[in-house]
Amino acid sequence: MGDELKTVKIGLLGFGVVGQGVWKNIEQNRSALETRLGVELNINKIVVRNLNRERLISVPETILTTNANEVLEDDSIDIICELIGGTDEALTYTEEALKRGKIVVSANKALICDHGESLFELARQHGGHYFYEASVAGGIPIIKTMREALIANRFSLIFGILNGTSNYILTRMEREGLSFEETLGDARKLGYVEADESLDLDGIDAAHKLVILNYLAHGIWVNLKDIICEGIRSISKEDIEIARQLGYKIKLIGVIARDFSHNSVSVRLHPALIAKTETLAEVNEVYNGVSVTGDVVGTTVLIGRGAGQDATSSSVISDIADAVSLLKGEASTGRHTSVDPKACPDEITLELSPPDRLEGRYYFRFHVKDEEGVLAEISNIFAKHHISFATVNQKELSDNSALIMVTTHKSSEVSVLAACEAVKQLGSFMADPVYLRIFNPEDYSA
Ligand code: HSE
Repeated sequence: MGDELKTVKIGLLGFGVVGQGVWKNIEQNRSALETRLGVELNINKIVVRNLNRERLISVPETILTTNANEVLEDDSIDIICELIGGTDEALTYTEEALKRGKIVVSANKALICDHGESLFELARQHGGHYFYEASVAGGIPIIKTMREALIANRFSLIFGILNGTSNYILTRMEREGLSFEETLGDARKLGYVEADESLDLDGIDAAHKLVILNYLAHGIWVNLKDIICEGIRSISKEDIEIARQLGYKIKLIGVIARDFSHNSVSVRLHPALIAKTETLAEVNEVYNGVSVTGDVVGTTVLIGRGAGQDATSSSVISDIADAVSLLKGEASTGRHTSVDPKACPDEITLELSPPDRLEGRYYFRFHVKDEEGVLAEISNIFAKHHISFATVNQKELSDNSALIMVTTHKSSEVSVLAACEAVKQLGSFMADPVYLRIFNPEDYSA
């Protein structure tokens, strides 16, 4: 196509929140965007489920269709944006497009997490391209930053807040002393919670993004079932209050910690206490943040809107711009056009660290009968498992029960799990113990 390219044709699969955002923001900044890119952008087909649905953005009726083949089989369409979500039709359409050697732009983290390996392989085999900036952390340009700006680095530690909804809930609990249930109600009213609430509340959405970041950083795909993936449902206002008194905030974080000496990587997603002096501890409400430590650059932190129509469409449009460069032949080779962060030689044998190999400090909450000797029994069991308490707090409740909140010195996850099992057998427990990890990035410094 080279110099002759004047107009780039785009097909959208899906016209929900993100699709409408892409249309709206291309229209809003069309002049600047087209000047920068040197081509006209023409969204000339949009695939929808229902032609008659009321939409906030109106588009010419002639470009709407319910037939995905009108996009997939149209050779004049240069770029296909898959903005349907889910892993059913989205998978079929993406496979079909990549088999045809198309450029596909996607915001679909679940699809990439579950099928990325085969989709990138398809793209490779058929000369297609798969861009995915919007799949991780909404408007934060983390994919491009890691793939291009930080290419000089190997990454010892990446950690981040990758789910806006759970961050909103934790922020409101912390600021207003509310319970999880009270705050969840508000998050639902504001439309923040995914239709499948488990994606947000059980950490799955954030874990999808983490798996993609791990692939980008270390060239290997990990399966969600092989990593710790825990959400925020068990966090209580008492946990947040004690954490605050001890100088911590509770955040849902994803961690990718590479151990270069043993050629292993630990990938996990769970709530954690982090020191309130950490930059990410101040990432609140629906914002996301990612801290990337590279051996050359040191630590870089990116913070921004992790979800929502405009932020996500900003990333989709950035991928469209990269696709335009590719089509114009400006970027026909090189990493910034590539779909595939290939594994480095040592990553061929990179081992996923087993979940129970973790070590660190822990926080526990025990709900027990408020009777003599209970604390002694607990501390005996923990001592037998070589777990030493660092702090102890107790809150009396009105029903002759008490909450005991402790933090520990450095312990192993194996010991923690065993101690939890052992204390559950005590007759004095009103509920299973709750434990949270205390995350300190300095534990991972080289
Ligand atoms: N439910 C997601 C979030 C939307 O809250 O971050 C973006 O993936």
